[in-house]
Amino acid sequence: MFTGLSHVSIVVPDLDAAARRLRETYGLRVGETRTNAEQGVHLAYVELGNARIELMAPSRPDSPVAKFLERNPKGGIHHVSLNVEDMQATTGALSEVGVRVLGDSRPRYNVAGERIAFLHPADFLGALVELEEHHAKGRP
Ligand code: CO
Repeated sequence: MFTGLSHVSIVVPDLDAAARRLRETYGLRVGETRTNAEQGVHLAYVELGNARIELMAPSRPDSPVAKFLERNPKGGIHHVSLNVEDMQATTGALSEVGVRVLGDSRPRYNVAGERIAFLHPADFLGALVELEEHHAKGRP
């Protein structure tokens, strides 16, 4: 069902300041910023070889990420993202054992065009979990 860790996502109040901090203190390279207008977030990634760190900052005041920052003004871990082979099969199997998949049944996609879904935190030890569909052969 799960094939690996895709990323750990951290919400930050200022993407540029966060990128500078990671570069200057830790020597980590943050890639270019992309925007997901639908979700109201600016996104940037640190490639770590086997997984990534995702940085998210709000792109508009009514973004869900802005609400997260109201509760955690300095930012913090927002979700953990796990790779799955087959989204439909995975969410179907999880629903059958009582795990709540968030949102309506409409397929959702991330900025890279990969299919995603979120699981209710109460059904995963209190952590928000994102599922990301990666086909074994389709990954560059
Ligand atoms: Co994510």
